[in-house]
Amino acid sequence: MRIIGTGSALPDKIVTNDMLAGFLDTSDSWIRTRTGIETRRMLSTGTLRDLAYDAAMSALESANIRGSKIDYVICSNVANSYVSPSLSSILLNRLGCKCPCFDLNGACAGFIYALDIAESFLKTGRAKNILIICAEEPTRFCNWHERETSVLFGDGAGAVVVTTGNNLMGIRVTADTHTDVLYYKRSMERTPYDRVEERTTPLVMIGREVFRLAVSASIKDIDTLMKQCKVTSEDIDLFLLHQANLRIIENIREHLGQPKEKFPTNMQHYGNTSSASIPILLDELHKEGRLNDGATLMLSAFGGGFVTGAALIKWSQI
Ligand code: ACO
Repeated sequence: MRIIGTGSALPDKIVTNDMLAGFLDTSDSWIRTRTGIETRRMLSTGTLRDLAYDAAMSALESANIRGSKIDYVICSNVANSYVSPSLSSILLNRLGCKCPCFDLNGACAGFIYALDIAESFLKTGRAKNILIICAEEPTRFCNWHERETSVLFGDGAGAVVVTTGNNLMGIRVTADTHTDVLYYKRSMERTPYDRVEERTTPLVMIGREVFRLAVSASIKDIDTLMKQCKVTSEDIDLFLLHQANLRIIENIREHLGQPKEKFPTNMQHYGNTSSASIPILLDELHKEGRLNDGATLMLSAFGGGFVTGAALIKWSQI
């Protein structure tokens, strides 16, 4: 696999910590020191579909390829207002794609899961060009009266186009059942026969437990992948980690003993955008010219499930 195009899109509305402190019992200093987040972008008048479309079009342009040349569209999304059809189906015609598509829910690790699936489609010859779109609006999962969760998230979309190549050095995905620490539950329509009443429960998160699981799982993924690929942390140029919390990234960085410059971040501006966070960061670095030809990138993410994923990629100039 080789990444040949990147794109991203963010809502225009910027929400500062002080704006949240206007209606929640919180403060700019609490949010900054505990998470690193200063502002987040939130959908206000636009839709997630438009954001996903903009990110995808930007990735297609960056890859210099038309939608009609895409053989598969994979969309990573935890939840949006449509349960069916999938977000990828909704976008397909508008993108000019005439190929199969599906959505996957790998929570915040969805981008790594999508890369894993894309790699197998490319290896088997099932597809040559694949468009991966990660589009998320986690701000819509939260109870906005609860300061514990609502301050953490932001909306956004990131996308990449991948084709055949030898740039994926290694990939690892894991899953485990820990539904109690991080979940968002939606009620479905009632039938005349169901006797179990289920209510929608906005995002529940046991922050400290998620923090602990996130740090230990990411360290295990990164260490395992480095061993498998016979590289050390010194050989890795940039670590693109899920942008959930600066302190989680700091813990991982300290374990790896690498300098801060190797850990680019953008959660300061966007908050946690779930599976979109790594492709948004990748696109920013690419467009800023910060990805050198031949650079080795370690991608690593964790999310509700509990799921995790890491990928080691050799960057080729697009
Ligand atoms: N503003 C002010 N005070 C707050 C806020 C807030 N927004 N939120 C919680 N507090 C209070 C708590 O009520 C608690 O008060 P108490 O001591 O009187 O009980 C105090 O702050 C400390 O709370 P802790 O939970 O101990 O704070 P902690 O240092 O653990 O930080 C945080 C909380 C930021 C949520 C941290 O645990 C964390 O980042 N966890 C991981 C979150 C994460 O990564 N989630 C996403 C994972 S997957 C995905 O991306 C969907």
